[in-house]
Amino acid sequence: MKEKQYLMIPGPTPIPPAVTAAMTRPVIGHRSDDFAKLHRSIEEKIKMVFQTKNDVFILTNSGTGGLETAIANTVSPGDKVLALITGNFGERFANIARAYGAEVEEINFGWGKDVDLAAVADKLAANTDYKAVLATQNETSTGVLNDIAGVGALVAKTNALFLVDGVSGVGGIEIKTDEWNVDILVTASQKAFMLPPGLAMLSVSEKAWRVIEKNNSPRFYFSLPAARKSFAKWNTAYTPNVTLFMGLNAALEMMLNEGLENVYARHILLARATRAAVRALKLDLLAEDHCASPTVTAVYAPEKIGADDLRKILRNEYGVTFAGGQGILKGKIFRIAHMGFAGKMDVLVAVGALEMALAKAGYSVELGAGVRRAQEIFLEKS
Ligand SMILES: Cc1ncc(COP(=O)(O)O)c(C=O)c1O
Repeated sequence: MKEKQYLMIPGPTPIPPAVTAAMTRPVIGHRSDDFAKLHRSIEEKIKMVFQTKNDVFILTNSGTGGLETAIANTVSPGDKVLALITGNFGERFANIARAYGAEVEEINFGWGKDVDLAAVADKLAANTDYKAVLATQNETSTGVLNDIAGVGALVAKTNALFLVDGVSGVGGIEIKTDEWNVDILVTASQKAFMLPPGLAMLSVSEKAWRVIEKNNSPRFYFSLPAARKSFAKWNTAYTPNVTLFMGLNAALEMMLNEGLENVYARHILLARATRAAVRALKLDLLAEDHCASPTVTAVYAPEKIGADDLRKILRNEYGVTFAGGQGILKGKIFRIAHMGFAGKMDVLVAVGALEMALAKAGYSVELGAGVRRAQEIFLEKS
């Protein structure tokens, strides 16, 4: 049956029925009291997800627009910026800073590895004039989770701002924005927030505002001072995607009803079961256990079977979509998302389909071995 599809890529992710229903409501005017009420209600809830007392701005653009907003408002031409790179999205963040005239220094930890705090500490000790440090909470291209608390503690001792790409983590992986000294945290709607693409969410610390006020990069649509001015009236500077705001409110309600602790524990469990199943199938994981992402798992395809051929079988035969590799990992890995509206049965579908696709591609696989391992983990007493 071609209609039944299983979208298991790290964004966009499946949308829960309650969120879809909320987005079918008639559009309201964005300068109305109803919109102000909606905006305020979102704000109360999203601050809990961000664990911040600062304002969280909801911007109508994709995650990259949120990252560009962070850079455009804090980085002036000629500023020295340190970029911590663990994959494709770390590189993107660095490239945005370059586009705004920053002098970017990189520490590239390698694709599949996480940030090494000692290397960051050395770099910060040797250079005291960084204006910003860029990091990725959850590197989607490799399925690696970075130690944001650890980096934040190091950056907080300097004058630099700590800008964090939390696009594929926030909402599925705990982040303590204020406690971990994150000056700007950026995330997006189409990942763990269970919404269609189109919104970026971004918090700004007091330390960041002091820089923003003096920043002289050109900015208009991405201006945070403009966003703040409108936010004071529960408004937005330009026409927001009102429909996505309605969806966001419903998604946040779902997350808080489940309990954020439970949301985070669910993602960790799904990742653990996926990783154990992959090992039971004698396939190799890209990320080591200590830095394994709770929201996406990257797996090496068997050498004789290209990752993209395997993905084709999965999609065409079983309606299951995994993501491919990016950059240097293209054709080598596939990525299974367990992000947002995902549960135990999704993992069983993913692993069951993977076993069948491997068998079809001629890989010697013990059918059921991966599914069984995942089931065992799900049946463990907590
Ligand atoms: C970690 C990370 N950063 C940034 C982005 C870019 O977000 P968008 O595609 O919404 O512009 C993505 C998207 O996959 C991502 O996973």
